[in-house]
Amino acid sequence: MNLIMAEDEVSSSELLQAQELIWSCSLNFIKPMSLKCAIELGIPDIIHNHGQPITLSELISSLPIHPSKAHCISRLMRILVHFGFFSTHQNVDKIDGQRQEADTYSLTPASRLLLKDGPLRATPFFLVQLNPLLITPWHFLSTWLKNGDPTPFEMVHGRNFWDGVGHDPMVKYLFTEAMATDSHLMAKVIVEECKEVFEGLSSLVDVGGGTGIMAMGIVKAFPNIQCTVLDLPYVVANLKGTNNLNLIEGDMFKKIPSANAVLLKWILHDWSDEEAVNILRKCREAIWSKDRGGKVIIIDMVIDSPTKTDRKSAETQLCFDMLMMVNLTGKERNEKEWGKLFSAAGFSNYKITPIVGLRYLIEVYP
Ligand SMILES: C[S@@+](CC[C@H](N)C(=O)[O-])C[C@H]1O[C@@H](n2cnc3c(N)ncnc32)[C@H](O)[C@@H]1O
Repeated sequence: MNLIMAEDEVSSSELLQAQELIWSCSLNFIKPMSLKCAIELGIPDIIHNHGQPITLSELISSLPIHPSKAHCISRLMRILVHFGFFSTHQNVDKIDGQRQEADTYSLTPASRLLLKDGPLRATPFFLVQLNPLLITPWHFLSTWLKNGDPTPFEMVHGRNFWDGVGHDPMVKYLFTEAMATDSHLMAKVIVEECKEVFEGLSSLVDVGGGTGIMAMGIVKAFPNIQCTVLDLPYVVANLKGTNNLNLIEGDMFKKIPSANAVLLKWILHDWSDEEAVNILRKCREAIWSKDRGGKVIIIDMVIDSPTKTDRKSAETQLCFDMLMMVNLTGKERNEKEWGKLFSAAGFSNYKITPIVGLRYLIEVYP
């Protein structure tokens, strides 16, 4: 009876809109899956190596596909053009020896980031999110909400995220690459936009600094900084440092080496409030006193910020928050939540600076 009443109360156009919202939500997976297929076929690199806009027939003849599937490529390209991963133009093509009008395809800024080589490539980040190790826990989110397991990831795989990544060679490779490429970009942005934050520092520990890409960018721009990267053994094993960059194995919950400043890039959002406060306390023990210029530098998101309210950015931040809930014990935080962590860890004040993109730079003082 309730259902019939609801239908009567809602206009047909509202019902159709509601249906479309559910359709579009359920079919949203087609976007990343289509792009994954294009990456696996090497389409961005084929277009790039072609050196000029490529016709459909040229693209098809370069692809490692079965001839009976050739007609599917225009449909794959059509949806990827629609999503902004490629652009298309009308051009003249030679089909069966005849000159005919045909579409050509070019790269867009997004597909340029999907080229195989290049320090800013986004493919590892994209592919790691779609790997079964990371996707499977999403199917068990509601089950996890009903039990006492720490994360859906741990419930499904029987080990925490960092152990899981370390035990799967493909995921380890993609995750490490994803972090390294982001660090390339962030090092460039930070050095260009927030130079003053690092000026005058003599030593810095990049805690959870991965393979040291961010640290390399920092010491290149500030050769007077002595930089140490601290990370898990499987991340830094076999990596060699330089005269002002040292990579060491360690556990940030146990000990962080003493330094002028500590950098936490994309670290605290991985952890619960309690764990984040423990990490911050270890940082506080490690850094120099306030009058000697001691500080913690955090690069992470700040959600609900009045300075970055566009819908798309807010949506991406909310997705990251869910990602932290499914894989890890962490979360994305608003300014008030950040402030609470800092005072719980014994810091006196902090300064938040928005950086280009979705992230912020937070300086925290003892
Ligand atoms: C999200 S990644 C960020 C990496 C790097 N800071 C970046 O932004 O590219 C988190 C890092 O924390 C490291 N990590 C996790 N647990 C750790 C621990 N207990 N001690 C030190 N590092 C840890 C991981 O190995 C990983 O490199």
